[in-house]
Order: sequence, then structure tokens, then C-alpha cells
Amino acid sequence: MEQVEWSDVQGIVRRGFGWLPQSAFVLLSVADPAKARHWLSRLPLTSGADAGNRDAMTVAVNVAVTFAGLQALGVGGTSPDGFSREFCEGIAPPLHPGDQVSRRSSMLGDVGPNDPHGWRWGGLATGTAPVHILLLVFSASDASSDVDLLTGPEDQTGVAQIERLLGWLPEDKTEHFGFRDGLSQPSITGEGAGSPLHLHQTATGEFLIGYRNERGNLPVSPRLSHDPEFGRNGTYLVLRELEQNVAAFESWLDNAATGHAPRAGMAYREWLAAKMIGRWRNGAPLTRYPDHDQVSDDFGLFDADDGTRSNDFFYHAEDREGFRCPIGSHIRRAWPRDALGSDPERALQQARLHRLLRRGRLFGPLYDRDNRDAPVNAKRRGLYFACMNADIASQFESVQHNWINNPKFSGLADERDPLIGERAGDSCMTVQQSPVNLRLRQLDQFVVTCGGGYFFLPGLRAIQRIAASNG
Ligand code: HEM
Repeated sequence: MEQVEWSDVQGIVRRGFGWLPQSAFVLLSVADPAKARHWLSRLPLTSGADAGNRDAMTVAVNVAVTFAGLQALGVGGTSPDGFSREFCEGIAPPLHPGDQVSRRSSMLGDVGPNDPHGWRWGGLATGTAPVHILLLVFSASDASSDVDLLTGPEDQTGVAQIERLLGWLPEDKTEHFGFRDGLSQPSITGEGAGSPLHLHQTATGEFLIGYRNERGNLPVSPRLSHDPEFGRNGTYLVLRELEQNVAAFESWLDNAATGHAPRAGMAYREWLAAKMIGRWRNGAPLTRYPDHDQVSDDFGLFDADDGTRSNDFFYHAEDREGFRCPIGSHIRRAWPRDALGSDPERALQQARLHRLLRRGRLFGPLYDRDNRDAPVNAKRRGLYFACMNADIASQFESVQHNWINNPKFSGLADERDPLIGERAGDSCMTVQQSPVNLRLRQLDQFVVTCGGGYFFLPGLRAIQRIAASNG
């Protein structure tokens, strides 16, 4: 097994810092390249080796850069070599004359309400500054104070703050729609720990440059002149600001359950919600627990460390037709495991090429379900979706395009992810049932994309090389 050089890898690759519940994703632009490089060289960055020992840690700091950021920092002239095309073009490339929407935005479903022209940051809205650097801060108490200590005045640091995206992780790991999140993650083979399940073991090179990937190859590595090793121990990080309309989700469920007697209506409502995600709210997977009665009340309390209960399931052998976990549910689209095709082992091998290391954080206060008119419910809330992958095209973009937003996913017709999919006309989802399927209709736009960026998260030595560039 390849040993990962954790002391040179940034900590966020190894751990989600779940024990540091407050976070700030700080978007910065370079105002003075020489000062900015000096500032970068002095950041107290947390390595993967540090992240393995959580006991004394009260703050963790990582940093990533955009392609425009590398140029603004004066790294490798104007065209460092070997970076992927997606990274160089960015998540929301400018339009060619005469085009209404860029190829990438169309492919990602960033159209209509998700159009980058309306993004708060990272998009094409006039007046928004280009993002150069992303500072990631995870904190035990007050991430904003930690950011103040790390940044300081622009005339000293050479970097200007565009936006401070404050996030958090609830103790019960439940996202705003009310579902336990972060249960299914790949386990990096070079980690040596993590899930022992064969299902989740994924080659290190799917997430880190410099190591073999699932195809047995080394991922394409960025190079600087005189520095072929620049990419080693780095990876690409995708960040998306996804606003969640919880009121719309709740009222869609209310309407869909209308007509069922009150108690039966409540159970039916929860059943519909679970069918959309593929798991019950406490995380129990429908494939293993198709009836709510089978799920013990305390399931969510211990399953996180017990992957065999929450995440050890296959679709091909257990639920080929989708009678338990619908074929178009969020989790089955986002990672179809062994379901695509007639040969499950081969299907799993293929699906392993498209895994994501998810590291999202919530923003905004929780929705008050007991008092729908509560003032807190009018506030913005959502997910700072963050994921890492060594190949943005084959991983994040492929998941978003070929699975989540694919109207013909796995033999379905004209429907997309019920939770986060692009909306077009009457957005539907099929719930497989015998003798006839149920068709859920008029799914609202529950999630809107409000910002995003493609970043490179370098290894620690590579950051010092950026800092040592001479412009
Ligand atoms: C507001 C937006 C989103 C919400 C509320 C959400 C919620 C959830 C929930 C509740 C789960 C089940 C817990 C788990 O299996 O870990 C899940 C799983 C997952 N989601 Fe999302 N998600 C969102 C956006 C996305 C996006 C944009 C992607 C990728 C492009 C994505 C990819 C995944 C993947 C890969 C899984 C794990 C599937 C598996 O391995 O079985 N999600 N999500």
C-alpha cells in the first residue's frame, strides 16, 4: 500500500474537522503580490499529520488558490503547466460573444435561478471581485476571531477580503432539510484507517496528486518551471454556496401528504421525504430499512461510527428495481454504487472513478419546523458544499452532469435529482412501486446555487514554493 505523506498534505483532505464546529471560508483577492506571498508563507497551516491527532487542536487552518490567484501571485509566469482545463477556466467561465450560457454552466445545471450572473461571489455578476485565495478556518469556538488574527490589515498582508463565509456543523450532523448528512464517504486506501468496507475503499490517487488512482495511473500533476513536483500532495477543491429553501420543501411535503388522514399523513409525509433522499431523517438507509418501524429510535446516535449499519449496502443484489431506495433518489444518483449495468463488480469499479470527499458546512440558522412563522425562518440558510477530487471533470462535474442532472439516469425518463437537480417544466421523480410506480410532481426549486469556485489545495511544500516565487 502506498504511504501517504500526511505531513505534506493539508489536513482537510484527511479529516472534516468535525470536532471544530465553527468555520469560516474566507474569499480573498491579492492586492500586493509580494506581501501576499509573504503572508502565505507565514500561515500556521494544519497538516494531515496534525489532523490525525485531534486532542489538542482548537483551530485548523488550510488554504487554496484559484487559477487567477496563481497568476495574481505571480506564480510560474502566466501559464503554470499541467493544471486541468476545468481549473484554469474556472467554475463559471465568461461567455463567448453571442452565447447565452457557457458550456460549463450548462453542463453543471447553472442556468435559470442558478445562473452565475446572479451569484454573490465567484460568478459573472458585475461588481464582484475575482476570488484569488480561499482561507479555510475551522474553530472550536469563534472562527471569525481566528480569521481576524490570521488576516489583519490589507496594507500589511497584501490580501483583501471579499467575503467571509461563516459556517457551522450541528452536533447531530443534520442538514437544513432535516436529514443526517456526511454518512457516506470514501475511505482513502493510503489512510490505513477509515471504513474497512471494501465498498468504500478508494485509491489515494482519486483524491491526492502523486499517488495511483483507481485506473492504476498517476493523476496529471501541475508543474512549475524547474519544479515538476509542484502538484504532489495537492488536490482540487470545489466550493459551492447552495441556498436551501426549507419552507418550499416543507410545503411541498404538506401538499403531497394532503388527503391522508392526519396520523397516516404524517407517516406518508416522512416516507415521501425519505424516498427523495434515499435515507430516513436519522440516516438509516432505505435499502436496509425500507419500513420506518424497523429503525430504532436511537439509530442516529451511534451509526456514525458504525458504517456497517449506515453505509454498508448495495443496490444490485438488494434493491435492483428501486422498490426500497428509488433509482432517482439523491443518494442513489450521487453515488450509484454497484447499480449501473448488469455486472455489479464492474459497476462498482466504474462508480469508484467518480467519488467525492465531501467537507460541507451549514450556513444560516436552523429552520423552526414547530413555528413556521418564526422570524428566524425568513433568514437565508444552506450548505457550503465543499468536495475534493484529483480530477474535477471526472469526479465533481461528472457526478453533477451524468448523474444528478441527467434526465435519463439509469433508464429514467425526464427527471432529475429531486433535492438539488436543475428544474425544467414540471419537475418530477418516480418512486418505483408494484404494481404501479408513483410519480412525484411539481417539485419546487429547493436549492439554488449562489456562488462557487474551483480551487487548487496545494501540498505544504508547494505553498512554500508559491511563497518563494519572485513574481
Ligand atoms: C443543499 C444541497 C445538498 C443537500 C441538502 C444534500 C444532502 C445529502 C444527504 C442528507 C445525504 C445522505 C447522507 C450521506 O449519505 O452521507 C447526501 C449524500 C450525498 N450527497 Fe448530497 N446534498 C446536497 C448537495 C450535494 C451535491 C451538490 C453533491 C455532488 C455534486 C452531493 C453529493 C452527495 C454524495 C456523493 C452523497 C453520498 C452518496 C453515497 O455515497 O451513498 N450532494 N446528501
